Amino acid sequence: MAAMGDDQVITHTIGITGATGAVGGRVAARLARRGVAQRLIVRDINRAPELKGASAAMAAYEDTAAFRRAVRGTDTLLLVSATEAADRVDQHIGAVDAAVAAGVSRIVYLSFLAAAPAATFTFARDHFYTEAHIRSTGVAFTFLRPSLYLDLLPYWADENGVVRGPAGQGRVAWVSRDDVADAAVAVLTSAPGTHDGRTYDITGPEAVTLSETVDRLSALTRKPVRYLPETWEEALASRRGSGAPEWAIEGWASSYAAIATGEMNVVSPAVPDLTGHPAQSIEGFLRKNPSALTHVHS
Ligand SMILES: NC(=O)c1ccc[n+]([C@@H]2O[C@H](COP(=O)([O-])OP(=O)(O)OC[C@H]3O[C@@H](n4cnc5c(N)ncnc54)[C@H](OP(=O)(O)O)[C@@H]3O)[C@@H](O)[C@H]2O)c1
Repeated sequence: MAAMGDDQVITHTIGITGATGAVGGRVAARLARRGVAQRLIVRDINRAPELKGASAAMAAYEDTAAFRRAVRGTDTLLLVSATEAADRVDQHIGAVDAAVAAGVSRIVYLSFLAAAPAATFTFARDHFYTEAHIRSTGVAFTFLRPSLYLDLLPYWADENGVVRGPAGQGRVAWVSRDDVADAAVAVLTSAPGTHDGRTYDITGPEAVTLSETVDRLSALTRKPVRYLPETWEEALASRRGSGAPEWAIEGWASSYAAIATGEMNVVSPAVPDLTGHPAQSIEGFLRKNPSALTHVHS
């Protein structure tokens, strides 16, 4: 252990952001079970999970001075994408620049499938610009691009069991957060250089339409779930009642539209390749989470 200013430098410590959240929390728990030293970078220190081998530091991405202090001494950083916000790219850029300035040598970024400057899913554009910024810094990187989360699929159905949106008959390979976390752990704990410069699509085992998806949900939970295709305008109108800002409504509706265009129609071997186990299916997920549709009335 050496000292740099007031901050301790511990080599081979992995920095984990989003550790109070679903994916980052899973990654942190898995690393702790493996006995890996880690620094959990959280927005609220009181909510940092208590894990063997883990220390915690408090910083939001946009508080670049605090973030720089928080990551100092970590050499690999898992950067979990921030909660959707109008200025999310700026938040990410602040965190990346602070990490590079603090001496982080590798960033593993939790991006999103089909990230592109003109991606149909408007939130995926943020991921493209964040990836581009990470590349521009020259830091070693790996981009993990998960598909839509299987864990959130039950909430695509409202309390009447209706999944409504402009997804047409496009396909998506829903992926579980457990698989995303397993893939991230495989990359974070690999020998230096193994995954540098690589981009991995992280998907489920099979791409299905929303019609097929609701049929499976119904068959497996015995709850009536159906898919109601909407036009783009209908999708915006049906969501405006929520009072959410227009950028959020567009992001929400465009996650369906990206299914319709085929941008989500990707099945990648990355989960089995990186983790050594098959990717979880809708059936497998519901067997593990049998009460996932409790909010839907029978
Ligand atoms: N693939 C998909 O279907 C899908 C769906 C939803 C979201 N996402 C994206 O994937 C990310 C990870 O998913 P998840 O399920 O783990 O989300 P989650 O449970 O909401 O966790 C997000 C984590 O990021 C932290 N965070 C958010 N904004 C931050 C900021 N500005 N500075 C520092 N930390 C910040 C949160 O901290 P707090 O606990 O303090 O809030 C939390 O720990 C999400 O943040 C979102 O960008 C993907």
